[in-house]
Amino acid sequence: MKQTSLSKRMIEFSPFLVGTMRLGKWGEDFSTNQWIAFIERALELGLKDFDHADIYGDYTTEADFGKVLKEKPHLRHEMQITTKCGIKMPADNRPEYKIKSYDSGEKHIIQSVENSLRNLQTDYIDVLLLHRPDFLMNPNEIAETFEKLKDDGKVKFFGVSNFSPSQFEMIDKMFPLVTHQIEASIRYLYPFEDGTLDQLVLKNIIPTVWSPLGGGKYLLKGNSKEEQDLNQILKKLIDKYELNTAQLMLLFLKRHPSGIIPVLGTSKTERLEEALKVESKTMEKEDWYALYSAAKGEELP
Ligand SMILES: NC(=O)c1ccc[n+]([C@@H]2O[C@H](COP(=O)([O-])OP(=O)(O)OC[C@H]3O[C@@H](n4cnc5c(N)ncnc54)[C@H](OP(=O)(O)O)[C@@H]3O)[C@@H](O)[C@H]2O)c1
Repeated sequence: MKQTSLSKRMIEFSPFLVGTMRLGKWGEDFSTNQWIAFIERALELGLKDFDHADIYGDYTTEADFGKVLKEKPHLRHEMQITTKCGIKMPADNRPEYKIKSYDSGEKHIIQSVENSLRNLQTDYIDVLLLHRPDFLMNPNEIAETFEKLKDDGKVKFFGVSNFSPSQFEMIDKMFPLVTHQIEASIRYLYPFEDGTLDQLVLKNIIPTVWSPLGGGKYLLKGNSKEEQDLNQILKKLIDKYELNTAQLMLLFLKRHPSGIIPVLGTSKTERLEEALKVESKTMEKEDWYALYSAAKGEELP
């Protein structure tokens, strides 16, 4: 069994990860030229981390991205690629999966990594995440599989996504993880209260956060009393910090001491630029709590 040590956790992420989920078939369906323009602009902005999963675009988005690396192989050395495995999802190109299930067995992980390497047209993955907790997982088997992938030079670092704190601990004890990718936003506050973020602070592990804007559904209609209250607070903070709602949502996450790195889901390079503007700002504690309470729809106890 491997001992966890900080020296094994040496990865540096850029201030935001660039998510690819909505850029392929599940969203904008970028042409190769659009992919190239988007990736090159992100790199120019200093955003070198791209977040994938084998399943995005029904198992097609990694290959879309790979076409860029085939055409412009030098870009590979300027970026870090995170990808995920462990979900078996029925799709036209996966007829063997009859239902959705999770699999963290050695055979499935190795096969998924081989597929991702081929699709992405690269010979290594920077960070491999187990996408969802497989309730039947065997932590020893996972640790041995990670060790093998690392020794073979196919994956540099490992993490998990959407695990409970105890599931995270079970794997991290066997093999040092570099990140936990979780959902969090003013629309999804559980990780602030359920121990997920506390654990990462304690272990000095950087959380990466998906749907930081709640998947773009943050533009509240103001129908309910809670939405009206939240909109009122947001309006005040927009004026005070000279940021828009999306930027405030990112600043809210960045205020947490765990060092949250949001995974941006936008398909627009100007919105990547916009996100970077929050780097020079800090949210005052009282404003953070005003947002938190309004987002919860209740006063703190
Ligand atoms: N680990 C997991 O289980 C998991 C699950 C889901 C996602 N992810 C990862 O997390 C990434 C981000 O998730 P997400 O797409 O739900 O993130 P998000 O940033 O919360 O939502 C992005 C959506 O919001 C829209 N949007 C509207 N106004 C915007 C503004 N001012 N600025 C930015 N975006 C705005 C975007 O549209 P435009 O394109 O028009 O800007 C896009 O459709 C994904 O790409 C994926 O890599 C991981």
